[in-house]
Amino acid sequence: MFNLQNISISKHLPSTRTTLILTCFVLISSLVFLINYPSTTNTLLSTASTLTSQFFSFSNTNSFVAKVDPPSIKKHTTCDIFDGRWVYDDSYPVYDPWSCPYVEREFSCFNNGRRDLGYLKYRWQPNGCDIPRFDAKKMMEMLRGKRLVFVGDSLNRNMCQSLICHLRMFKGQTYRSGLFYNYYFKDYNCSISLITAPFLVQQHRLPNKKETLRLDTMEATISKYRDADFLIFNTGHWWNHNKSRNGENFFQEGDVVHNKMDVGVAFTKALKTWANWVDTNVNTTKTQVFFRGFAHMHFMGGEWDTDGTCHNETSPVTDESLLKPYPLLMQTLETVLSQMKTPVFYLNITKSTAYRKDAHPSIYRRPGSKLRRGAIQDCSHWCLPGVPDSWNQLLYASLFSSQGYNRTTY
Ligand SMILES: *[C@@H]1O[C@H](CO)[C@@H](O)[C@H](O)[C@H]1NC(C)=O
Ligand SMILES: *[C@@H]1O[C@H](CO)[C@@H](O)[C@H](O)[C@H]1NC(C)=O
Ligand SMILES: *[C@@H]1O[C@H](CO)[C@@H](O)[C@H](O)[C@H]1NC(C)=O
Ligand SMILES: *[C@@H]1O[C@H](CO)[C@@H](O)[C@H](O)[C@H]1NC(C)=O
Ligand SMILES: *[C@@H]1O[C@H](CO)[C@@H](O)[C@H](O)[C@H]1NC(C)=O
Ligand SMILES: *[C@@H]1O[C@H](CO)[C@@H](O)[C@H](O)[C@H]1NC(C)=O
Repeated sequence: MFNLQNISISKHLPSTRTTLILTCFVLISSLVFLINYPSTTNTLLSTASTLTSQFFSFSNTNSFVAKVDPPSIKKHTTCDIFDGRWVYDDSYPVYDPWSCPYVEREFSCFNNGRRDLGYLKYRWQPNGCDIPRFDAKKMMEMLRGKRLVFVGDSLNRNMCQSLICHLRMFKGQTYRSGLFYNYYFKDYNCSISLITAPFLVQQHRLPNKKETLRLDTMEATISKYRDADFLIFNTGHWWNHNKSRNGENFFQEGDVVHNKMDVGVAFTKALKTWANWVDTNVNTTKTQVFFRGFAHMHFMGGEWDTDGTCHNETSPVTDESLLKPYPLLMQTLETVLSQMKTPVFYLNITKSTAYRKDAHPSIYRRPGSKLRRGAIQDCSHWCLPGVPDSWNQLLYASLFSSQGYNRTTY
């Protein structure tokens, strides 16, 4: 029933189905895929066997061996682009901090008064290779006639605005309705949209007006975008705090509202609902699915609602041993991804964000912010320009890789 599609072009060749899909995709959009991630197998084996051994069966990779090697892919030059470090680079940021009108006020740290600008000068450097700079012209050409849709929480809004900033020299029209955003590039007939769905599954109001979360139902508006060319999902932050009312009378399946459910259990159920939706609705010949990993928060001395701060952080973590650990949430995600039919590209940016305690809006989430005791600081979103730019660079790299980075694809 489930496949682990650990497909390594250099060692094993992909399945006929995958080859077909990949070939079409390459032809259609001149993208080159290289799917290769040896260490994934080990991670999955251990995660899978501890969490869901009874559901899990591995495909025999050899049964997927096809006869031809995709010609344009170079061998043995792959690397994990998500494993790396931040290096100081004076040519950064990629756009001036006052120059992009698409950054919302809450992320406009410079405009809100932040003047320590060292945090703008870091570039993500994978340990095993270099990744290309984001080439806006090339990206825009690739997106011609296409739709790219972000689905998720405000961290995806952070990423979406960063992408629009990268492409801002191409004339775009902005449309916004509530929490839905659309950017349309007329000359390229390209739209980039954002659907706000922080849990990915449907938030729901019962007749008695109490809000619940339908763990068994995908957020409704997404069905309109299932045929987008690119879907970039995320979820995470809302499963962690009071947004889920500590799991009390909040999680609903069918008509049943559970009076208490562990948030981790609910998260797994919701992700399975998402995975099932993707497997059922997404046409992988047309649509490339991405999932962006969890971005770390850096509240110090408290949490977001208990006076946690990050305003005095001006440089990244340098000692790797001090990085926050890879969250259980993402281990669960990896397990769910591994059980899907659809190949999902996992933008595994979690570790890269663990370093960047210096790059959150903190007190600069509002214009003219002053340090005030008891004022909420934002140590979970990111200033723009900033860290989400690197997510788009990694997205770009994974779309345009001709050297063959080890792609984390399930
Ligand atoms: C990437 O793949 C190559 C070839 O399969 C392998 O030698 C290398 O160790 C991989 N790199 C990482 C970081 O996993
Ligand atoms: C614009 O792109 C959409 C797909 O995103 C396509 O359906 C439509 O026909 C295109 N329009 C033009 C004028 O090319
Ligand atoms: C969030 O939950 C914690 C306990 O889990 C509680 O102490 C805190 O007061 C809650 N905050 C809000 C704003 O409800
Ligand atoms: C999937 O998408 C391709 C390319 O757009 C199209 O040719 C094909 O008919 C679609 N398949 C289904 C089942 O809709
Ligand atoms: C920032 O403040 C926290 C407590 O508010 C303190 O623990 C930390 O050492 C400070 N960091 C710097 C770089 O001053
Ligand atoms: C994602 O990154 C984390 C942290 O570096 C790592 O532990 C994990 O194995 C990675 N997952 C995959 C599928 O590469």
